[in-house]
Amino acid sequence: MKNTIKILAAAIVIVSVISCQNDKKPNYQYMPNMYESVGYETYGEYSVFPGEQEAMRPVEGSIPRGWMPYDFENSNEGYQLAKDTLKNPIKYTKENEEAGKALYDIYCAICHGAKGDGKGTLVKREKILGVPSYDDVGRAITEGSIYHVMYYGINSMGSYASQTSEHERWQIVQYVEKLKADLEGKTPRIDTDVASVETPNIVAKEEEHQETTEEHKEAH
Ligand code: HEC
Repeated sequence: MKNTIKILAAAIVIVSVISCQNDKKPNYQYMPNMYESVGYETYGEYSVFPGEQEAMRPVEGSIPRGWMPYDFENSNEGYQLAKDTLKNPIKYTKENEEAGKALYDIYCAICHGAKGDGKGTLVKREKILGVPSYDDVGRAITEGSIYHVMYYGINSMGSYASQTSEHERWQIVQYVEKLKADLEGKTPRIDTDVASVETPNIVAKEEEHQETTEEHKEAH
C-alpha cells in the first residue's frame, strides 16, 4: 500500500513536469542574454523610438556614399545659374566622347535623333512634340544647361539622374556639345593638352571613379 502511494506520487510528479514541456519553445534558458540580445534588433519595435520603429530615416542632410550633392535648384533661377556658371569637369577626350555617344544613343537619340536635330524615332512617329534641335538659337544651350536638364528633366523630358552616374552625364554633355557643333558647322572641342596637363594623380582618380561606376552597375 505504502509502495503504491509512492509510485503514484512519483507518477504524478513526472506527468506534471512532462506536461509543461513545449517542443516549440526552448525550455530553460540558463543565460537568456545569449538568446535575447540586449541591443535593439534591426527593424524591431520599441516604444523608445519615434513611431516605435528601430529603423529610422537618415538624419536630414545625410549624403549616401558615392553620391555628390548637386547645388543647383530645380527652378528657373537654378536653370539659369547652371546655364551661366556650371562647367564640365571632365576632359574632352575621344574616349569620353565615345562613351558619351554610346550613352546618348541609349537614352536620348529616341527623341532627339542620332544627330541631335530633334528628329528622333518618337518624333517621326508623332509620339512626342516639341523636341528641339541642339543648335536652336533661342535656347542657346550650354554645358551647364545640358547637365541641368538631364539632372532634373524639363517639361515633357524626364530626369536621367537615376539611370546615369554623374561622370556619365558629363560624358553625355560632351557628346551633345559635339552634336551641336556639328549642326552649326563648327569644330567640336577636343582637349589636346590632356597628357601634358593632367598629373598622374588626376588620371588615377578618373580611373578609380570609372571603376566605382562599374561596380555600381554590377551591383544593380
Ligand atoms: C522622351 C523624349 C526625350 C528624351 C528621351 C530626351 N529628351 Fe531632351 N528634350 C525633350 C523635349 C520634349 C525637350 C523640350 C522641353 C521643353 O523645353 O519644353 C527636350 C529638351 C532638351 C534640351 C534643351 C533644354 C533647354 O535648355 O532648353 C536638352 C539639352 C536635352 N533635351 C538633352 C537631352 C539629353 C542629353 C537626353 C538624354 C540623356 C535627352 N534630352 C532625352 C525630349 C526628350
